[in-house]
Amino acid sequence: MSNPRATRTSGPSATVPVPPTSPWSPEEIVEEAVAGDEREWVPASQAGVWIRPLLFDTVHGAWVNVVRMRTEGFISRHHHPAPVHAHVLKGSWRYLERDWVATEGSYVFEPPGDTHTLWANPGESLTVFHISACLVEVDEAGNPLSHTDVFSRIEQASRHYAAVGLGADYVKKYIR
Ligand SMILES: [Fe+2]
Repeated sequence: MSNPRATRTSGPSATVPVPPTSPWSPEEIVEEAVAGDEREWVPASQAGVWIRPLLFDTVHGAWVNVVRMRTEGFISRHHHPAPVHAHVLKGSWRYLERDWVATEGSYVFEPPGDTHTLWANPGESLTVFHISACLVEVDEAGNPLSHTDVFSRIEQASRHYAAVGLGADYVKKYIR
């Protein structure tokens, strides 16, 4: 199997030896995280919120995306059975149950077992989330209402790409 990453013919690393990469390694993803093409932004169930997929990791049951919020107030009350990593690129948001605010540049680790209510502060926010396993929407008493996993996220994105003319299979570029 040829490996196009093994040789580089231009760019700043042209004279630097490239270590061998396993031919079994999946293809890398290099994308504009804050996409300029509006078709990349998948509308979320909540008005004023979009999801920009970056990776659907079907082996670990995880996904990475940028969440864009252009609204204020309640977004989602949910439970995480597995860890979440968040990095705020722009704007701010908080969890009603906490006394801190995630602001531009913040890193947040949401530990397994966490339940919280996401609240958007005024203005636009952009946050990279790396979510494992699933996200369980809950009511005020903590009872499960619905859940999202990497496969439902793939379905959601695929339907959106088909609707905006990119085609249902466009989602495959983000699946590993
Ligand atoms: Fe969360």
